[in-house]
Amino acid sequence: MKKISLINKKILISGASRGIGKACALALSEEGGILYLVGRSLSSLNKVKDEIEKKGGRAVCLSADLSEADGAEKLLASFKEQSLDLDVLINNAGIALSAPIEKTSQEEWDRIMRVNARSPYFLCQGALPLMESSQLKTIINIASVVATQGYPLQSAYTASKHALIGFSKSLARELQERGYRIHVLSPGGVATDMVTGVRPDINTDELIAPEELAEWIRFLLTVKGNGMVDHISIRRESKLPW
Ligand SMILES: NC(=O)c1ccc[n+]([C@@H]2O[C@H](COP(=O)([O-])OP(=O)(O)OC[C@H]3O[C@@H](n4cnc5c(N)ncnc54)[C@H](OP(=O)(O)O)[C@@H]3O)[C@@H](O)[C@H]2O)c1
Repeated sequence: MKKISLINKKILISGASRGIGKACALALSEEGGILYLVGRSLSSLNKVKDEIEKKGGRAVCLSADLSEADGAEKLLASFKEQSLDLDVLINNAGIALSAPIEKTSQEEWDRIMRVNARSPYFLCQGALPLMESSQLKTIINIASVVATQGYPLQSAYTASKHALIGFSKSLARELQERGYRIHVLSPGGVATDMVTGVRPDINTDELIAPEELAEWIRFLLTVKGNGMVDHISIRRESKLPW
């Protein structure tokens, strides 16, 4: 297996202000990547940027609301204006909802689809011209174990993540000949604000650490052989296999 250098590689991570996105940003900055941190709260992103810079890394904060219809477009416009290119796109921003179908409003359904499925689609679309000349050109979409298993009270969230996986499969085939690497990561319960918000019943001692996911992502980006990983599914150890 060949080691791939991330030094000076431009890496955009949506949802980088906390949780999985933040852990991932810190890990990839250790590899020398230039991190573009996306989220709604600029003050939270700046704290992550400070942490990265204290360790000698480089980061740029970009505030964007990906629940807006043109959120992805506005975000990538700033890249295009500065003629910036991109090597890696990590579609990580996401929102969850725990509610029975009868109590899921059209507004909630639309919002979850906009953040979890629509924005990754249009971020990929807008990022392709910026990535085309990169040697690395990699897209990582963060789905969830619920996407293929289906969980009660999470039908809207599950639908959005199932859509993300379907999109990723098509994209991987569509872009294979152009040298793109498309990976999907599907975690089970991770110890972040999201899970404690929607599943207060979960025993937090058993949750996966966000840093563990960051290590899987570091591996996907820094190691290359003749094999290719399409999808990594990571359940909590306490859950049943498969
Ligand atoms: N935690 C889990 O158990 C788990 C399991 C499977 C999959 N996942 C997936 O992993 C990803 C990260 O989740 P997490 O657990 O790290 O969640 P988190 O701690 O709640 O962080 C979510 C991130 O997304 C950003 N975000 C949310 N809404 C946004 C919007 N409208 N526009 C731009 N950014 C937005 C947040 O920043 P702002 O609030 O500042 O915008 C934050 O940085 C999500 O896609 C989630 O579905 C999580």
